[in-house]
Amino acid sequence: MPGQGLWSGRLGDGGGAKAGGFTASIGFDRRLFRQDIAGSRAHVRMLARVHILTANEAETLLQGLDQVQQEFEQGSFPYRIELEDLHLNIEHRLGELIGPVAGKLHTARSRNDQVALDMHLYVKEEARRLSLGVRDLQRALVGQAQGHRSLLMPGYTHLQHAQPVLFAHHLLAYFFMLQRDRERLWAVVQRADRSPLGAAALAGTSHPVDPVLVAHDLGLGGIYPNSMDAVSDRDFVLELLAALAIVMVHTSRLGEEIVLWSTREFGFIELDDAFSTGSSIMPQKKNPDVAELARGKAGRVFGDLVGLLTAMKGLPLAYHSDMQEDKEALFDAVDTSAAVLAALAGMVTTLRPRPERMVGALSGDFSGVTDLADALSREGVPFREAHGIVGRLVRLCLDRGCLPQDLSDPDLAALHPRLRRDLLPIIEPTNVVASRRSPGGTAPGRVEEQLQEAARLLEED
Ligand code: ARG
Repeated sequence: MPGQGLWSGRLGDGGGAKAGGFTASIGFDRRLFRQDIAGSRAHVRMLARVHILTANEAETLLQGLDQVQQEFEQGSFPYRIELEDLHLNIEHRLGELIGPVAGKLHTARSRNDQVALDMHLYVKEEARRLSLGVRDLQRALVGQAQGHRSLLMPGYTHLQHAQPVLFAHHLLAYFFMLQRDRERLWAVVQRADRSPLGAAALAGTSHPVDPVLVAHDLGLGGIYPNSMDAVSDRDFVLELLAALAIVMVHTSRLGEEIVLWSTREFGFIELDDAFSTGSSIMPQKKNPDVAELARGKAGRVFGDLVGLLTAMKGLPLAYHSDMQEDKEALFDAVDTSAAVLAALAGMVTTLRPRPERMVGALSGDFSGVTDLADALSREGVPFREAHGIVGRLVRLCLDRGCLPQDLSDPDLAALHPRLRRDLLPIIEPTNVVASRRSPGGTAPGRVEEQLQEAARLLEED
């Protein structure tokens, strides 16, 4: 006795994994309903244009799709897990609403090109939206940098004091990292700007379709030159995941710096209470949980990328159900990244630097002495030798528990005859910073240039 289900032409209706919902994606691909319905509308309009559907049939289908969309928007769409995925659920519901003409919607189309189209539309929209989220965080960084243009702080390498820098310079480093993230997201938008519809299952279709019309109807720039490629790659999804993974590398580093800076040991910033949490046992605690989660959630997004890379690796052409695994990874990465960007933007906007702590951290830290070696080298002492002389000066100060200016003239002369007292002001943090006038450097004028460049880049979207 033949079954009644969608596969009943060929297969029995039996139970198995299908009945258990193992093959179903409706639990998560329902999130694509807007894209799926938009794709179906464009497909119907094209089918009518090439006379595969009559104008009446197309009208009925379009009205039915409107109704289905309303049900989704209102949360009243009757999902059925045995119908596996979004596409079959919609087609089935359409049948209930408009009758047998619903069966014509899938003419010249396969779920393989249909789902690929949905994913292109989704990736394009989300990459764009996420680029705006990145821009919000960039704005927050620029706001802080503008508000504290001349504030000094230690610059670090190996997490040891290296050379003094402007706080604004440090923040703008993140701005420019995020700028490249934004550019990567724009590139994702460009790459996803193609319609795979018309590829059908894999080989194209014998119907006289016009895929370019569908693409343009959907605001997509073009179609794929090869139908097998069109249905079988998910590189555009991987590119978004990769771009987001790099965003998360950057945001996790910023999160870590905020964690460090808000400790008692650094004390460089005060977090707004709204972006901190307390402890259930220790009344004094103010924890930087938002920054910690920004750091920790990077791991999820890396997992999403590696998961999909692994699912796609080694798949022969063309479509396989393995590819259904693209969606949860993508949705998770999109949600996680958007949440991290928004939380960090708020946290950065509301944090308050503590100038006395930042500047105080520079006192007696010897982080200006590179400039003393530079000064000696300008007087003809080879830099490597100058490096050694100044190293011995630091050692002497540390042994005596004093600062360079406390050394006597004979002490200085003993280190090197050209090491004169009048060279010493050069190692004052303000002077050190002011001297770093190389392009992109930390001198106030150079940081001002970076701020102007940042303001210009923020205009772009
Ligand atoms: N639910 C499927 C997916 O998300 C749709 C395409 C299924 N195609 C197929 N022939 N089973 O990838």
